[in-house]
Amino acid sequence: MNLLVAGGAGYVGSAVARRLSTSGHRVVVVDDLSAGHAEAVDGIRGIRLLRADLAAPGLDRALAAAGPVEAVLHFAGKIAVGESFADPEGYRRANVTGSEALLAWARAAGVRRFVFSSSAGVYGTPEKVPVPESAPLRPVSPYGETKVAVEERLAGAAKEWGLGAVALRYFNASGATDGGRHGEDHRPETHLIPRLLAAAASGSAVPIYGTDGPTPDGTCVRDYVHIEDLVEAHVRALDAVRPGEVRAFNVGAGSGASVREVIAAAERVTGRTVRTKDEPPRRGDPPSLVADISLAARELAWKPTRGLEEILASAWSWHRGRPGGYSGRRG
Ligand code: UFG
Repeated sequence: MNLLVAGGAGYVGSAVARRLSTSGHRVVVVDDLSAGHAEAVDGIRGIRLLRADLAAPGLDRALAAAGPVEAVLHFAGKIAVGESFADPEGYRRANVTGSEALLAWARAAGVRRFVFSSSAGVYGTPEKVPVPESAPLRPVSPYGETKVAVEERLAGAAKEWGLGAVALRYFNASGATDGGRHGEDHRPETHLIPRLLAAAASGSAVPIYGTDGPTPDGTCVRDYVHIEDLVEAHVRALDAVRPGEVRAFNVGAGSGASVREVIAAAERVTGRTVRTKDEPPRRGDPPSLVADISLAARELAWKPTRGLEEILASAWSWHRGRPGGYSGRRG
């Protein structure tokens, strides 16, 4: 198929773009490179990179070079919960306005198949954990609100012009792909696992945000899903899109690990001690977020196959191979 991958130079988008191109699809990546890295897709057969900001005027012109497109996978957007409190308008522009522009383009281009990167952030602080897709959407951050807004736009597009879409609600995407050749490189890095590994390598201390919450050891519980499993979920989602329907699926490991448990696992995998520093909870961080993944198992025939140790081992091999991340220094 001819595929447009928006945000395809980012951590998850590029992993999916690489996989789809390996399976023989023709992939056009559109990315403004504000957070993505051209190196994540450079020189890969079957992938072409167009540089464009979805929310800027003139998207039609920028995407004219894409040629005919049969399906869109949309990863583009800002992803840091904390930053979204400081810049809610920037988050709305990048995530909602950008998605609206991409949908308008897709409609005009005759695209009827769409896969969207949503987030566990749509649930806010769920009443029930593991959280099923049917739980109320009550985001507790501007970031989470933008993901709900885009899911609503997809529902509108399904109704108005017959778009078929799957929204994948990611839990904590982590780990590296391609034997550690590609991995997570956010600047600044806010995510736990890359921070832990950088600290293991350098001897610096990692903050633990919240140590007396309502969880077994007082630290936040999250559901860490290996990026390769997440990639596989996109392949299944693309096949599962049904015209005129929007379906949402949780994509997680289906089990949780506390911050302290992740630290212990990182120490085992790296053979190093990780220094920590107790800090107050981070704004917008629910105490516990774990996915109920039974719907994806049933309807997408998808199941995660890799655990926390594999996540950490692959991320460690990426970190050691590229301590500065893609070209230049990590933030
Ligand atoms: N944490 C620390 N210290 C750190 C970094 C993180 O204790 O230095 C904690 C956080 O408080 C959280 C857990 O480790 O409890 C995981 O934090 P991450 O930043 O790695 O991931 P989040 O769970 O905050 O964010 C993820 C996705 C977001 C998504 C969010 C939904 O990265 O895109 O889940 O809540 F919105």
